[in-house]
Amino acid sequence: MILTALCGLLLSLLFTAPPSSHAATTSTDYQAEDATIAQGTVATNHTGYTGSGFVDYANTTGSYVEFTVDATTTGTATLTFRYANGSTVDRPVNISVNGTVVVSNLSLAPTANWDTWATRTATVTLNAGANKVRATATTANGGPNLDRLSTGTTALSPGMAVAPYEYFGWGNPQSPTSVMSATGVKWFTLAFILSDGTCNPAWDGSRPLTGGDDQSKINAIRSVGGDVIASIGGWSGNKLGEKCTSASALAGAYQKVVNAYGLKVIDIDIENTEWASATARQRVVDALKIIKTNNPGIKTIITFGTATSGPDSTGVDMINRAATSGLANDIWCIMPFDFGGGTTNMGTLTTQAMEGLKARVQSAYGYSDSTTYGHLGLSSMNGKTDDAGELVRLSDFQTMLAYAQQHHIARLTYWSVNRDRPCTTGSDGDSCSGVSQQQYDYLKVFVQYTG
Ligand code: GCU
Ligand code: CA
Repeated sequence: MILTALCGLLLSLLFTAPPSSHAATTSTDYQAEDATIAQGTVATNHTGYTGSGFVDYANTTGSYVEFTVDATTTGTATLTFRYANGSTVDRPVNISVNGTVVVSNLSLAPTANWDTWATRTATVTLNAGANKVRATATTANGGPNLDRLSTGTTALSPGMAVAPYEYFGWGNPQSPTSVMSATGVKWFTLAFILSDGTCNPAWDGSRPLTGGDDQSKINAIRSVGGDVIASIGGWSGNKLGEKCTSASALAGAYQKVVNAYGLKVIDIDIENTEWASATARQRVVDALKIIKTNNPGIKTIITFGTATSGPDSTGVDMINRAATSGLANDIWCIMPFDFGGGTTNMGTLTTQAMEGLKARVQSAYGYSDSTTYGHLGLSSMNGKTDDAGELVRLSDFQTMLAYAQQHHIARLTYWSVNRDRPCTTGSDGDSCSGVSQQQYDYLKVFVQYTG
């Protein structure tokens, strides 16, 4: 319970809402086997495809697969093609949109074998409404084996903004790929990286970064088009920000985590003694500056507890010292729960706390309104929280979703996938919600967020 207690943190991710010139596409998979196919066949003779099969292009120039891709507004969109190419040579395709070739010879390089799938993205302009997106083989070998086309799965997509916390070391974790197929979620925030007793990172302080179950699960998530954010910290255990005694040492520990998985995003869930120490807070800020310098493009999230009015004095101090230190943190994410009053009014209190966060971040960084919201996140806790009587209902998640849609915040997440199911016997706060629900009811609200 203590683990949960707060650990609940989280993160959220992702940066700014897409610029308005981006076409609004929801995160959607278009299976190749359901598309229009010319000179190709639907096949299932290799493993690892999604849906009910893949398209085996005929080995000839001009064979194609054509998808009908919906956009709600006109603008640019990133298309992600998932393919296998077990040959030893490139199998390029031309990408056309509504009859015009917009990307010539998009390289679809060999993938080791026909059971190994890779993704390749193309950025195109879509019209509002239905668009014909065709991938046509340009060489005599034909196209690769094509599994699907996805929209909304790139680093800047809303998909990353909805990255629920899951922990693999306790709380009877569900298979993450089952969560993905049941809900459509693509990103997870994995909890928690802790100190192993020294300035060295390990899952829950003991499991290895590479070579173990955690790595296998991350590989599995990625093999079906998902990705992960590592969450460093939480309420319990030894914190890297305290066990590492300089900013450069702490950055070195964070870097090991980034390197282990090639992470695009990390979440620092700063709680308990690490949060209470001004020295540790400054060390975290300075270490993140080093991480940002050494990993161009990496996104950072700082997740912490909050009062109902927004960040408390420690939170205000953290935001101000980060701004003063020149840390361009991507997402400030609060955990709006465990307020202590036994309330069931959590949707309203969450939006109130978020407005308090908005004011603090805006005043520290001097951002415009929209840029400020693009740097905010919330991480709720589904069902019963750690405080007696406090309850986050599905309707509260709807309130949070509406707030997110209105302001285009960067992260909308919660603690946790493990808890997003009914309790069968008794109530284990780490593995069920304590309220009447179907599995993943809460996640099914947040996955509707379009960024
Ligand atoms: C093999 C493989 C097919 C593939 C084909 C090709 O036959 O099993 O899945 O489509 O090669 O070269 O295109
Ligand atoms: Ca083929």
